[in-house]
Amino acid sequence: MAQSFYQNFKLGVLGGGQLGRMLIQSGVDLNINFSILDPDADAPCRSLAEFTCGKLTDFATVMKFGQKCDLLTIEIENVNTEALKQLVSQGKKVFPQPEVIELIQDKCKQKEFYRDKGIPTAEFILVKDKEEVRKNLSFLPAVNKLGREGYDGRGVQLLRTEKDIEKAFDASGLLEKLIDFEKEIAIIVARNEAGQLVTYPAVEMVFHPEANLVEYLFAPAQLKKSVAAKADAIARKVITELGMVGLLAIEMFVTKEGDVLVNEIAPRPHNSGHQTIEANVTSQYEQHLRAILNLPLGDTTIIMNSAMVNILGEPNYTGLAQYEGLNEVLKVAGAHVHLYGKKLTKPFRKMGHVTIVDNDMESLKKKAKFVKDHLKVIA
Ligand SMILES: Nc1ncnc2c1ncn2[C@@H]1O[C@H](COP(=O)(O)OP(=O)(O)OP(=O)(O)O)[C@@H](O)[C@H]1O
Ligand SMILES: [Mg+2]
Repeated sequence: MAQSFYQNFKLGVLGGGQLGRMLIQSGVDLNINFSILDPDADAPCRSLAEFTCGKLTDFATVMKFGQKCDLLTIEIENVNTEALKQLVSQGKKVFPQPEVIELIQDKCKQKEFYRDKGIPTAEFILVKDKEEVRKNLSFLPAVNKLGREGYDGRGVQLLRTEKDIEKAFDASGLLEKLIDFEKEIAIIVARNEAGQLVTYPAVEMVFHPEANLVEYLFAPAQLKKSVAAKADAIARKVITELGMVGLLAIEMFVTKEGDVLVNEIAPRPHNSGHQTIEANVTSQYEQHLRAILNLPLGDTTIIMNSAMVNILGEPNYTGLAQYEGLNEVLKVAGAHVHLYGKKLTKPFRKMGHVTIVDNDMESLKKKAKFVKDHLKVIA
């Protein structure tokens, strides 16, 4: 059957960062034309597709952008969903669906969704402000999270004891029981319009203690079979209950008892799936395209074990980015460097990542450490 997207078809993407950049990279193989909207004139996608500079949260901007596209998707959740709903009512396809984006934009709504659907998650209460956190001292130790617009750990505050209450957000959000987890894992799941569904094997995340960002990631996660099966079943349940079309990343905690709890979800390609470019038969980016275009979904099998290192801007450097240690890292067998083309570096800004493939887990960890210690972004 002829595919309409081969001619005059335009896929609009809200957001032109690194995720959009890698989406375009795999879209080239499917002959897809992209149109990108991003507020930053220097965004990583600026020169790779038709590019519009404009605010993703502005109703009129998103409406105007959407009119000229055949299908719309996102690479960031903070977008104007009212405009997207209106575009849908005018007959445009938008995947993930605006209602799903809306639910995910608000961590409070997200948590209520898990509770309503019987999806395991950390116990929580909703809080309006700091005062309400104070009233719930008995709930500590807990994690206070902003309902909206927190990302990369910036909307998350650990409150161990009463002394920490000052650090609580004076805004609407939630208090979540502190989980003494053994591991943090993520599973990526994809679903197309026809209802076909595939999951990727779980990956294991190791976080940067200061920046609250994923620092290393190993794939596949080292899990007992029963735990891996539990996590996989939860991932399937989440996307099915959402009725979502597209790619969904599910961050989960594995407790010492082997329980699996959903932390949060993201309805798009995700930091925890970068390694699928080199390490799996179908990358998460290609899979997202297949899902939203209602194409047959691709094989998610792992070809080789892998590690992924986020390359973050060095602390104490702000300015035009320069890369130190690139040659040393390129000499590492199995290493693939991805630079996002961001002009300016800032402390802990995501500037790139390196995926290393190596079937030996010990050698993989050594190489990941080498990459982390040698590739530096300074100004
Ligand atoms: N209930 C919890 N118990 C223990 N640790 C938690 C809890 N909630 C969050 N964390 C820790 O804080 C990190 C960031 O939390 P979360 O993923 O909710 O925030 P985020 O800002 O949306 O993150 P990101 O954008 O980096 O994915 C988690 O990955 C985890 O390490
Ligand atoms: Mg997270």
